[in-house]
Amino acid sequence: MGLDIGTRDGNGPRPGPPGPRGLLRTKSIEQSIADTEEPGHHLRRELSALDLVVYGVGVIVGTGIFVVTGSVAKQYAGPAVALAFVAAAVACALAGLCYAEFASTVPVAGSAYTFSYASIGELPAWIIGWDLVLELALGAGVVAGGWSGYVAELLSHFGIHVPDALSHRSGHFGFDILAAGLVLVLTGIVLAGVKLSARITGLVVAVKITVVLMVIFAGIFYVTGGNYHPFLPPSKPNPGGGGDLHAPLVQVLFGFTPSSFGVMGIFSGAAVVFFAFIGFDIVATAAEETRRPQRDVPRGILGSLVVTTVLYVAVSLVVTGMQKYSDLDTTAPLATAFKSVGAPFWSGAISFGAAVGLTSVVLILLLGQTRVFFAMSRDGLLPRAFSRVHPRLGTPYRTTVLLGAAVALIAGFFTVSQLEEMVNIGTLFAFVVVAVGIVVLRRSRPDLHRSFRAPWVPVLPALSVCASLWLMLNLTVETWLRFAGWMLLGLLIYFGYGRSHSRLAGTAPRPPAGSPGTGPE
Ligand code: ALA
Repeated sequence: MGLDIGTRDGNGPRPGPPGPRGLLRTKSIEQSIADTEEPGHHLRRELSALDLVVYGVGVIVGTGIFVVTGSVAKQYAGPAVALAFVAAAVACALAGLCYAEFASTVPVAGSAYTFSYASIGELPAWIIGWDLVLELALGAGVVAGGWSGYVAELLSHFGIHVPDALSHRSGHFGFDILAAGLVLVLTGIVLAGVKLSARITGLVVAVKITVVLMVIFAGIFYVTGGNYHPFLPPSKPNPGGGGDLHAPLVQVLFGFTPSSFGVMGIFSGAAVVFFAFIGFDIVATAAEETRRPQRDVPRGILGSLVVTTVLYVAVSLVVTGMQKYSDLDTTAPLATAFKSVGAPFWSGAISFGAAVGLTSVVLILLLGQTRVFFAMSRDGLLPRAFSRVHPRLGTPYRTTVLLGAAVALIAGFFTVSQLEEMVNIGTLFAFVVVAVGIVVLRRSRPDLHRSFRAPWVPVLPALSVCASLWLMLNLTVETWLRFAGWMLLGLLIYFGYGRSHSRLAGTAPRPPAGSPGTGPE
């Protein structure tokens, strides 16, 4: 029939800005859950706990372990990169427990965005939704760029060379055609439905995990004890260049001499390898599509985090044992370590696995972004038309197409290193807000059923905030400035559109789910 539900259900755009308290108006948990049943705006419940762990591992294991391990060992931590992984994992575990409690209390699409809307208020929720674009959309673009590098490398073995103008490898301006193409193909898969996405992801995850295990079990035979000395190289000042803009904020704030290695090197390294863990929180974005979210979402989040931590520590120990950390490659360190010990077969297999494995990361980041955007649109903070679910496919098709095109452009024009730290800061900021939200919600709604309760509240959320902030402070001044600019833009959009169009801005009663006039097209 072509009618848009946002303009005919009596709850569409509504004039009249809210009063000052309106900035902290919250959407009740009951309303959030009821909205998931609204015909034409609800997602199918199809996922199990295992699907979620597969999702989690599928999106977590990617550029971080396949690429970043090498550069962090070489530039920040030496063989102690394994400890940097542990430090980042601790921060993620603290945040993961908070995410798990929230997801088990508010099993609704939108992750940190939805959680904040239910606990702290609309403006913080908008801020976090806007911030999540950094993690999800930008993250998808970054990983697509990493994927393109591996594929170009593989193609070169067959004598096929991607022209410089269609890649970033020349170091000059170019449009990365492989990265953009991958994003468009995966957008089609997301459009076709979440179950299809989960199936493809399952296959890809199997290849990826096989390759990671191969690195560990084949590589262990090539480890030389001498490569571990020194395990934690002594601290040394950074060679000049870059000025304050390229120094970690913590060093500028506290007047430290910018340095690498040593104990501080582990933390600088942790702020970078943190990228390798991004994704476990995305499991929470699928809460609304999970059959038994209260039980399965916490299992999915924590399960995938444990699996990946063990794999990362093992891989980084093996790789730094195979090749001296100072000789590690920074673009394909796992493959190159095998080359360095005279095992080119393994090297090729690993490159292939990385190229296959990175596709699922991009896929799930894209999927998570469409769901957050969907939730924001359903709440009226973005145009309601974007939360229209396709009657046959059951997916938010308008959002998916729009975001897919935007991410393809990002992947085409930007390189991994230009955007990676932005993804980290955006994600860590979301962790901070979620941890605060846990404490607020325990106080404001102690009555809610929580099938998973984070232990030691409020101490644990406080530790989570400290850990995330500490990692954020270890990111560069330049990243902080870009982050501030992005957030400012978000505030302008909220005050120019979302504040007055929010469904909470209206005073008219909302129709109960399933009432006439809200049916699908
Ligand atoms: N954790 C994901 C990766 O390492 C984002 O690629």
